[in-house]
Amino acid sequence: MLAGILERAAAALYFFLPAYVANTLPGIFGGGTPLDMNRKFIDGRPLLGKGVTVRGTLAGIAGGTVVGALQGNVVLGFLLSAGALAGDAASSFFKRRLGFERGAPVPLLDQLNFVVGALLLASTVVSIPLDYVLVLLVVTPVGHLAVNRLGYLLKIKDVPW
Ligand code: CTP
Ligand code: MG
Repeated sequence: MLAGILERAAAALYFFLPAYVANTLPGIFGGGTPLDMNRKFIDGRPLLGKGVTVRGTLAGIAGGTVVGALQGNVVLGFLLSAGALAGDAASSFFKRRLGFERGAPVPLLDQLNFVVGALLLASTVVSIPLDYVLVLLVVTPVGHLAVNRLGYLLKIKDVPW
């Protein structure tokens, strides 16, 4: 029973590996020109903000797609990666509209934006088992906080979340 659940959870994490890689690489390789080219929205605030960069977005999509290719499914790897970055950018868009500065923490939105984006885009080519979705929604926020804390301790990230 327990072995079966753990096996299923491991399968879910393996399936989602391209999205995890796509979401991690921008923090390491990102920076430089913002994806929104410093444009403002009609509310006068940044469209996305300086936390969403061209280099980070490309690095995430490229890295995640390579992982998908190594797993034997380039298209799925690309969709999981592009979806992850799109979800992250969408959450930055909403954060700016709500008046949150770049980097301001919004619990759960910050950790789950890329999960939702990746699953939505991937679901256009594969049907995603419900138990995978549940595992990813529960495991990701915990793992995300752990990884960000590690990034902060290694001085890769400016804030521990
Ligand atoms: N990053 C990037 N390009 C992306 C996403 C992230 O370069 N498409 C980099 C940026 O350096 C960003 C860091 O990864 O600061 C962490 O990403 P994230 O937490 O999503 O951005 P925040 O800085 O917290 O900004 P926001 O408030 O918009 O979430
Ligand atoms: Mg953030």
